[in-house]
Amino acid sequence: MIELSLDNSVRSLLKRGIAQLREADIPSFTLAAELLLLHVLGRNRTWLYAHPEEIIADADAQRFFELMARRAAGEPTQHLTGKQEFWGLEFEVTPDVLIPRPETEHVIEVALDRLALRELRAGRPQKSTGAGLQITDIGTGSGCIAIALAKELPAANFLATDISPAALAVAQRNAQRHAVADRIHFVECNLLALPVGAQHAAPQLGAIPNNARPAFHESRITSHQSRSFDLIASNPPYIGGREAPSLPREVRDHEPHSALFGGEEGYELYADLITQCVQHLKPGGILVLELGHNSLPAVQPLLDATTWTNVGVTNDLAGIPRVLAAERV
Ligand SMILES: C[S@@+](CC[C@H](N)C(=O)[O-])C[C@H]1O[C@@H](n2cnc3c(N)ncnc32)[C@H](O)[C@@H]1O
Repeated sequence: MIELSLDNSVRSLLKRGIAQLREADIPSFTLAAELLLLHVLGRNRTWLYAHPEEIIADADAQRFFELMARRAAGEPTQHLTGKQEFWGLEFEVTPDVLIPRPETEHVIEVALDRLALRELRAGRPQKSTGAGLQITDIGTGSGCIAIALAKELPAANFLATDISPAALAVAQRNAQRHAVADRIHFVECNLLALPVGAQHAAPQLGAIPNNARPAFHESRITSHQSRSFDLIASNPPYIGGREAPSLPREVRDHEPHSALFGGEEGYELYADLITQCVQHLKPGGILVLELGHNSLPAVQPLLDATTWTNVGVTNDLAGIPRVLAAERV
């Protein structure tokens, strides 16, 4: 039982929460305490700062300090609130999926820029609805890449794969939350190796309930077996096993290892991923890959000049080469 002080005002709770997280050496301790208090109270930040004297019910104060204790013990804030914002959209997150990171928004930016350039070259308006486009997100996790692109391209169709059925269940719920589930077909498979028989019937949907199966016509499934995609995006696991000891405990102890680690070096999955993309992208199709902080020297040479053109690298806000993009010849 956590002992509550007589002063249960918003200001006092926040002050004590911040002190507790600072003491536990939690990064961004002020923000974490604020977010968790807002979560408990079901309020927004404006309210929080407009009502510093408001007295909080004992039960809410108790709940807040329970969350403080869990955060101080290393659980990520997003696992405690169950959500994370990405591309201006709120995503459900659970311990089964990677928490969407701000740097992954560069994948969305590059994908949209490349598609706009393609439209421009074809003499069409740059801002496209995505009509007729087939887009894939490999290793979809929470679904953040596929869903953000689906919101931007309201007429495009998507295939989103993951090796984890538990992650696909979260992604499916996020797609429903953002009203794009009818355009994203979630498939449990290794990278883009679609299940046997996928060319004749709807692919297995892992943990996805039957009543939530998105409409994806058989002819489209068939065409997955050939060069049918206009754009493939992926943020694969890219941390090296050797880096595990230096990861923050929030990440190492709480996020799924299948989402984090790509092998001992980290970049091992990219070779298979790029080989599969060679087989599945249309001529002129676009590949957009997120990179680990040291992946570029190992990954860029995999894009040989006979198969790929217009290779480009985009740095993140920290100046790290974060996104590699190219077009299939
Ligand atoms: C780094 S997370 C990215 C999740 C999400 N796309 C994002 O950007 O936040 C990598 C995802 O790839 C999935 N994954 C790992 N190995 C895979 C494989 N061989 N085939 C398909 N998905 C895989 C993991 O389960 C995880 O959801």
